[in-house]
Amino acid sequence: MSGPGTSGPLSGRRVVVGVTGGIAAYKAALLVRALLADGADVEVVMSRGARAFIGPVTFEGLTGRPVRSEVWEDVPDGTHVTLGRAADAIVVYPATAHTLARLAVGLADDLLTTTALAHDGPLVLAPAMHSEMWAHPATAANIAVLRERGATVVGPATGPLMGGDAGVGRVVDPDEVLTVLRAFVGADDAGMISVDTGAAPLAGLTLLVTAGGTREAIDPVRFLGNRSSGRMGFAIAEAAAAQGAAVVLVTAPSELPTPTGVRRIDVVSARDMDAAVRAHESDADAVVMAAAVADFRPAEALPGKWRRTDGPPQLQLVANPDILAGVVARRGARPRPVVVGFAAQTGDLEASAGEKLAAKGVEVLVANDVAAPGIGFEHDENAVLILHRDGRRHEVPRSSKRVVAEAVLAALVAHLPGSA
Ligand code: CTP
Repeated sequence: MSGPGTSGPLSGRRVVVGVTGGIAAYKAALLVRALLADGADVEVVMSRGARAFIGPVTFEGLTGRPVRSEVWEDVPDGTHVTLGRAADAIVVYPATAHTLARLAVGLADDLLTTTALAHDGPLVLAPAMHSEMWAHPATAANIAVLRERGATVVGPATGPLMGGDAGVGRVVDPDEVLTVLRAFVGADDAGMISVDTGAAPLAGLTLLVTAGGTREAIDPVRFLGNRSSGRMGFAIAEAAAAQGAAVVLVTAPSELPTPTGVRRIDVVSARDMDAAVRAHESDADAVVMAAAVADFRPAEALPGKWRRTDGPPQLQLVANPDILAGVVARRGARPRPVVVGFAAQTGDLEASAGEKLAAKGVEVLVANDVAAPGIGFEHDENAVLILHRDGRRHEVPRSSKRVVAEAVLAALVAHLPGSA
């Protein structure tokens, strides 16, 4: 493959884009254009179904290369293996339920599937299908198999679907795929992170992740809480498991399903979470404190329900343990666990995040503006500033929490003992 000659975060990286047969196939043209603008060397392979939705000429015009679908189109060159071997990453965008099934089983019935079999680097899948198809146990099982094997699944997103339907199943925007690819095979905007990973970069490592908002009991029915949904921590746990880590997820009450392959420990209060973290920190190579921990709790939880006729209660609050500070203090000068803190901020993000990074003694601090509309608490998206103890910084623009999770993991990996 030869490059388009542009410099950018993916400069010189060879990316195969597999386009399969869904209505979202037209968006693959935007992805290809964005990859080219990032400097990537792009080759498009289409499934037969994709050709029913969009013509190969569009991709040939963008990449300046022929677009193939079948293994017998190019037998003397052995493209069915050379393409996959040479690729730094394969992206399937959109990935239909049918192609996910073919990839999970290991079928080799067209150029895309043979290319995937001949490739041992990152495989990024962007599923797109109707909600029922996504929820079907067959698709869920295929996704689980692919994740276990190291594939990164981005999305699907929620929104309008074909035929006037709406729900989960929409392909993610090209930008989200781009962020994942940059984390895997490129450098970030500032050229600081360069994680050239295999498909399972966290294999053999144990991560302890906290999530959700703790609840501090006032009486048997009421509590002091916060708006954290747990989505950020769950996304990190899911992404880490997909990258091969053994993951223990300590979560405050959350309705979210346990990500595949993750060991979940449910807790309620900050003190419960502190105890669970203490019990598991010594096994951890990294601790990611994504939970929103209540700093204060009522001095005493009332044994019976406080009644209206009792009048307004006078709550006496006492401080909760700072769980993160405890992990850092107990670790002392040892190299592990690597500790990642979060900072929910309002106001000047950069300045207060910098202060918090120094005060907490963590390797990485992930700061987000909780006052910004549409991101953070209770939302599927986030935008964060990742600060490293050694001064490096990395901004992740508004993206799905899964994409932010991948960026957080890429930042963490850079601090593991033995990494460059
Ligand atoms: N944290 C913790 N224990 C607490 C409070 C917070 O471990 N009792 C962790 C959070 O999980 C997060 C980080 O500390 O990783 C920062 O949390 P944040 O609420 O932003 O900061 P605080 O330390 O509470 O500081 P402040 O309230 O002054 O912003």
